[in-house]
Amino acid sequence: MKIKTDQPFMHDSAEIANIVAKFWDQISEGWRKIWGPHIHHGFYEVDKSLTPLEAQENLIEKLADILHLAPQTHILDVGCGMGGSSLYLAKKYHAQVLGITLSPKQVRLATLQSRLENIANVDFKVENALSMSSCDNNTFDIVWSLESCEQFYDKDLFIKQALRVLKPGGQLMLATWCSSQDEYEGYLAKKYRKLCLAFDLPYMPTMAHYRHLIEVNGFTLQSMLDWSKHVEKSWDVGVSLASTYSFLQLFKLAGLRGLRFASQIKMMQEAFHQHRVKYGVFLATKT
Ligand SMILES: C[S@@+](CC[C@H](N)C(=O)[O-])C[C@H]1O[C@@H](n2cnc3c(N)ncnc32)[C@H](O)[C@@H]1O
Repeated sequence: MKIKTDQPFMHDSAEIANIVAKFWDQISEGWRKIWGPHIHHGFYEVDKSLTPLEAQENLIEKLADILHLAPQTHILDVGCGMGGSSLYLAKKYHAQVLGITLSPKQVRLATLQSRLENIANVDFKVENALSMSSCDNNTFDIVWSLESCEQFYDKDLFIKQALRVLKPGGQLMLATWCSSQDEYEGYLAKKYRKLCLAFDLPYMPTMAHYRHLIEVNGFTLQSMLDWSKHVEKSWDVGVSLASTYSFLQLFKLAGLRGLRFASQIKMMQEAFHQHRVKYGVFLATKT
């Protein structure tokens, strides 16, 4: 068995959108109780011990640093989850943020949180990253995609949409899990397939493939960084945190899907440790 990592191997675009929306609708509230408001890795430092939340905020800070975020920046947070990044960037950097996700539940949770914290400069919508139909051309200074592209059925179409909605000179920030190879065979192909199915990833391209998509669509790539070493500890933390909950507790918090998810995080921990998955960060400018 051989499998290429630059094209979807399961479902179709509408089907995966449904699966993803349902998954996050079911799991988000429970996730927040267990892991907090962010659904992404933490950036760990060798010389500092950080709590999971501090490490996640540290990752946002590192990304904000490479973007040189200025106040009032207009950001589209694509695949915004429960609004973790959007709210953080709106509060700390006074950015004007629109967060979009497929999950109506996530929109409700994020909106509620913005009201609780009295943050006016954010808005959340159910919207597909592959159409961005409510977003006008040349609108945003930054398109921010933090660990959402993994679930997009068509990465090329997303990058085209990002180009369309960005102002000239605007920046695309893409942080995403990447495969280590263009093609897997035999045992590794099985592992790749299982991992993608477990996390609803239609496919997981390599960093080189993402670079190609970014450049071929008219962006100028500013940086391509491999942060795997900085983030992989998140899975160790995740596995040990999940083990502090009983099956019953996990079930009560996030249902059957949450229970399955908790049992699958070991798979991703192993993939990172075996360097089959890398954490790619891309920064590109619309020229
Ligand atoms: C792993 S979560 C990351 C959430 C958020 N960026 C964060 O860091 O907390 C993935 C997010 O991508 C969203 N997503 C996946 N496919 C999408 C699509 N086609 N259009 C819009 N959002 C999508 C999901 O709804 C979910 O909110």
